[in-house]
This record gives sequence, C-alpha cells and structure tokens, in this order.
Amino acid sequence: MTRRIVVVANRLPVSWDGEEWVTSPGGLVRALEPVLQRVNGSWVGWSGNVGDPPEPFVHDGIAQRPVSLTEEELDGFYYGFCNSALWPLYHDAVVSPEFHRHHWRPYRKVNERYARVAAESLQPDDIAWVQDYQLQLVPGMLRAIRRDITIGFYLHIPFPPIELFARLPWRRQIIEGLLGADVLAFQTRASVQNFARAARRYGGAETLGRRELRWRGRSMRLQRAPIAIDTSHFEKMAKSDAVQRRVVELRHELGDAEHIFLGVDRLDYTKGIDLRLKSFAGLLEQTADHPRRYAFVQVAVPSRENVPAYQDLRSEIEQLVGRINGDFGEPGWSPVSYLYRSLALEELIAYYVAADVMLVTPLRDGMNLVAKEYVASRRDQPGVLVLSEFAGASEQLKSAVIVNPHDVDGVTAALRAATEMDPAEARLRMQRLRRTVRKETVFEWARDCLAMLEAF
Ligand code: G6P
Repeated sequence: MTRRIVVVANRLPVSWDGEEWVTSPGGLVRALEPVLQRVNGSWVGWSGNVGDPPEPFVHDGIAQRPVSLTEEELDGFYYGFCNSALWPLYHDAVVSPEFHRHHWRPYRKVNERYARVAAESLQPDDIAWVQDYQLQLVPGMLRAIRRDITIGFYLHIPFPPIELFARLPWRRQIIEGLLGADVLAFQTRASVQNFARAARRYGGAETLGRRELRWRGRSMRLQRAPIAIDTSHFEKMAKSDAVQRRVVELRHELGDAEHIFLGVDRLDYTKGIDLRLKSFAGLLEQTADHPRRYAFVQVAVPSRENVPAYQDLRSEIEQLVGRINGDFGEPGWSPVSYLYRSLALEELIAYYVAADVMLVTPLRDGMNLVAKEYVASRRDQPGVLVLSEFAGASEQLKSAVIVNPHDVDGVTAALRAATEMDPAEARLRMQRLRRTVRKETVFEWARDCLAMLEAF
C-alpha cells in the first residue's frame, strides 16, 4: 500500500478525556492505525463535542481533521436522520423509522461539510475511504469536487432488502450519493445483493456481472468484506494472569453457578435483549427444581440515550430483569445480573472466559463482533456460542448453535441444549469457530478492502 489514504468517518479515532486526546478502543482503529501511519494518512471525523471544532492536529502519527456539529445538527443529523430514520430502516424496521424533512436537511448539510473537509486534505491520486450509514452522500459529493482521487465506501450495518429501502423518501438521493464511490463494500453477500437491486431500481445503474455496476459512464465494484477483530490480542489477554484471577472471582461472585450465560450489547432494540431474557426465563421455569444452577449476566452499554426508542427499551428491559429476579430469585441470590455500563477490555474478557454459554441473538446485525471476541477469548476451553441467524457473523461462524431470536421457545430449547451438549461436540464446534476467527482477522479485512481500492 503506497497511496495516501484519508478515512472519512462519523467519529474521529480519538476522543478528548478532559486533559488529552486518547485513541478510542476498537478493532477498526487498531487495524487502520499502522496503515495510516505508514502512508502518511489522515482521518476526518467528529470530535464528539458540539461547537467550534479543534484545529487539525496529529495524534500518533495520524493527521486528525475534526468536523464540527452544532447542537441542532446533532439533533437533526445524528439523533434524527442517522438514528431515528436510517438505523431502524436498515435493521429490518424493528422499530418504525421516522422520516422528517427537518432531519434530512441537516443530514445533507453535515454530509457536505465532511466532504468539504475531506476534499481539503486530499491530493491527486489519494484514496478517500468513507465509512458507514452516517455519510452515504459523501462519495457523490466528493466526486463532484474532486475527480482525481479513488473513493471507497464501507457500510458497517446491513443494506436492507429493497422492499424496506423503498420506504425511504430520499432513496434516489442516497443511491446516487453511494454511487459516487469506485468500490462499495458490505459485510455480507445479502447486503451486496440488496444494494445492487436498489442501485438498479432507484439509480438506474446497470449490472455487469455479479460484482460490478455501471452508472453514468463510470463503473464501480461491489465487495463482500466481513469485518473482524484483532484475534491474537484477545487470545493474549485471555491467558494473562490478571484475567485468569478475575475469572475465578467472577464465577464465585456469580454464586458458583453450574452454567454461566452471558450477553454483551450496546443497549439497542436491534440486539434482541428483551426476547433473550424471556428465553432465559423459560429455561428457569423448566428447571425450577434446580434453583441457583444458572446465572445470566447481561452487560448493556449505554447508547444514543436521547432517542426515545432507546429510553423506552431501557425501561422495558429493566422491568423484565426485575420481574425475572422477582419470580425466580431467593434472598441473597438473583439469576440475572444486569450491568448498565461499558466494561474495561480486561474485565470484559474475564466475562468471556467465565461464560459457558454466550448469547448473541440480535434481530438484525451487520456483523456482531462480540461473537468473534467470545470465540477468540476461549483459547482451548469449549463454551457454546448461541448465535442469531440474522447476525452477519452467522455467514461465517457456522459451527455456532444458530437460532431464530424471534422464536422464544426455540431459543430456550437451544439454551438447554447448550448446557447439555456433549463436551466433545462443544470442543469440536469451538475449534472450528476459532479456526475462522484466526484466519480472518481485522488486519486481513483492512488489507482486502484497501487492496481493492488501490487496484482501482
Ligand atoms: C454501530 C455503527 C457505527 C457506530 C456504532 C456506535 O456499530 O455501525 O458506525 O459508531 O454503532 O454508535 P454511535 O452512534 O455511538 O457512534
């Protein structure tokens, strides 16, 4: 990789902790950092605060170009169009998307700002790599300003089936914005196909083979590139003494239950946390003669707390936890431990190592990296991954116990089967899963995406 890369993403890869800029956790940043350092790259994104943006600065060898948002833009662009229209629409409309012109206008305006800031730092022959649903108009806007660069777009969430996408009042503008890119990459085959259909229907694009489109005299490539994690980092941390010690403590804190179940999600209605809790309650009902045999830990990371649908979901989940603990708990013991916060990585990995059964049961998810993190943290222990067929990860992690999260009784049966699984089978399944997460890491993901862009 020799060409300069400018990443354009909603958020910068750093945040201000009150005293200094610190690198945000997460696989995407970890994978791109060394590449950007090598090619003298830069990153355009929002600093996380409203008002005047900080001046451009360099952090760990990467030029940071902050984009500003006003309070009203945060409401209209981020909480409004991004997270009350696009997010639910692209996730099977599990809650009803809200379409408002007063959200669409700031979406367009803020996308223009990102495109302008990016254009300023791009030189001929550079690659602009635009990330995710918040910035779908940026490829088209950038192309209108700069014709001498290569533009990539990566969608981290699912691209919806055309029957859902059709609802969007600004569907043509979104498709035209995306078709400004030279390479459009998605998590799954289904998303590639969904996008190709929508591009034909609403953009008038022509399909040339399965992975190429032609539109207004240009051609663009479609790519399936499932995102992944830094597997060896999780493996290393999982075997550290600190994590191993914490695992012993955790199991004890959880009442030395025979089977520990774990769920880790942003508190989001796409994650199926409520249905999952009901499935667990079903298991407790079936096995009421063995109280204290099971413990379920649900970590819910606060997210988008200004959006009413997220507030409603939080109260619903908290009521459900209260009800289950009321029905099945005993003095000094509750079957569900609910943590509404994010955990430090070391603590999170200790939970992965302590958990006998991991529940990843979203109603729809672009990929779901928690599933991959659990597998990477298991090392040579078995452990059962119960995985929704509607998570992008299920296209790759085929040896998981695959469930339909809407089928509450079916998931209860899967939980029971997980606790009764022959250890040899559990071990074999986990070995297969580990082979996948070791072979396809976030470094291979970045290499594949950038190689496609460089070859364009
Ligand atoms: C998903 C999206 C990301 C987003 C993240 C956290 O993974 O694909 O683009 O950054 O959620 O959401 P937030 O709204 O806090 O950025």
